[in-house]
Amino acid sequence: MDKLIITGGEQLSGEVRISGAKNSALPILAATLLADKPVTVCNLPHLHDITTMLELLRRMGVELVIDEKLSVEVDATTIKQLCAPYELVKTMRASILVLGPMLAHFGEAEVSLPGGCAIGSRPVDLHIQGLRAMGADISVEGGYIRARRNGRLKGARVFFDTVTVTGTENILMAATLAEGQTIIENAAREPEVTDLAKCLIAMGADISGHGTDTIVVNGVESLHGCTYSVVADRIETGTYLTAVAATRGNVRVKNTSPLIMDAVLQKLEEAGAHIVTGEDWIELDMKGNRPKAVNITTAPYPAFPTDMQAQFSAMNAVSEGVSILKETIFENRFMHMQEMIRMGAKITIDGNTAVVEGVERLQAAPVMATDLRASASLVIAGLVATGDTIIDRIYHIDRGYECIEEKLQLLGARIKRVPG
Ligand code: UD1
Repeated sequence: MDKLIITGGEQLSGEVRISGAKNSALPILAATLLADKPVTVCNLPHLHDITTMLELLRRMGVELVIDEKLSVEVDATTIKQLCAPYELVKTMRASILVLGPMLAHFGEAEVSLPGGCAIGSRPVDLHIQGLRAMGADISVEGGYIRARRNGRLKGARVFFDTVTVTGTENILMAATLAEGQTIIENAAREPEVTDLAKCLIAMGADISGHGTDTIVVNGVESLHGCTYSVVADRIETGTYLTAVAATRGNVRVKNTSPLIMDAVLQKLEEAGAHIVTGEDWIELDMKGNRPKAVNITTAPYPAFPTDMQAQFSAMNAVSEGVSILKETIFENRFMHMQEMIRMGAKITIDGNTAVVEGVERLQAAPVMATDLRASASLVIAGLVATGDTIIDRIYHIDRGYECIEEKLQLLGARIKRVPG
């Protein structure tokens, strides 16, 4: 298993280019299953999760044409198997996103239950409830969700009692081909949901209200092909900004989208960063100063994202002052903190709240990545530690960060990958 070795202490400085958003690319690739003609998806990031989704489509018999810039043309009309098997779903929970499109377009779907994951139980009951409200006949047996419909799915009012991103996306996709109107209430407002809606509209769907908590979909008979470019990754953007802020450096982040970054940029400013933004770039400068501790409470968009909590805990670990971090989305998302404590961080955890007392520097130690964003936070911790930090199990990081060591090296970090 590969490891990362980071020699801490460098102040990061330079430019970094952001890739397409993983969490937007995944539902958009699933949405290609709804079209009667090929759909071309551009600006896909080079990531393991994307490869898994493409492999899933390929296993179903879907024809894919991939060009060297990783634009993918997907022709779903060649589909042969309406099944997402366990061995792929277990490596990526987002495989559940093929359920709604397969059922809506082809009349049936069999998708393995995703099972547990490192950051909490993460059920899919709301996805199932929503599809049932639209008339689907769904049973869960043998570890599989088996869904069928009689005639077209029916438009319905779908109310989510918890805001769910992929749940909203599954129902949104299914509703595009349903008969009549679907109203999704307490819908997720995440920019990735909006990006998916825009792609579906480009395929001929009738959708309004995306980006708000009420999405209205008027079902159409069929969807056509389109070419769509995935939005920039706001979490990758935030990760580089936070890494640079923790090292007291400066950076220009290119090919990104500042308008969907409000909560994170505001917190970075509170930490003492000077931030200037343009249409598709963000500049951050700490002017050599140590960051100030900032309190964080995670919540659905537009509030502070849970996917940035771990990275901010690493920055807070070396900030001036005491901060309180509250995780309200997932029940077990502080595992990175145990590793940071081994690196000398002063953190007390009580349930879903952590109190972080900033120290001047962390000390390098061998640490283990437990999930995707936890890995990113340990990289940041390594960058602000004295000595060589060795991070094990970095396959997690390759699921969500394209060329992380190359991008950090360009900013002056001393980081290398070694085969384990
Ligand atoms: C998505 C993101 C993930 C991010 C998360 C929260 C993708 C591929 N992944 O995950 O990076 O961390 O949003 O912003 O886009 N829940 C239920 N029942 C359900 C579905 C969800 O109880 O049927 C609960 C979950 O356990 C969790 C909360 O709802 O506590 C939010 O989860 P959800 O938004 O669904 O997360 P994902 O869509 O899996």
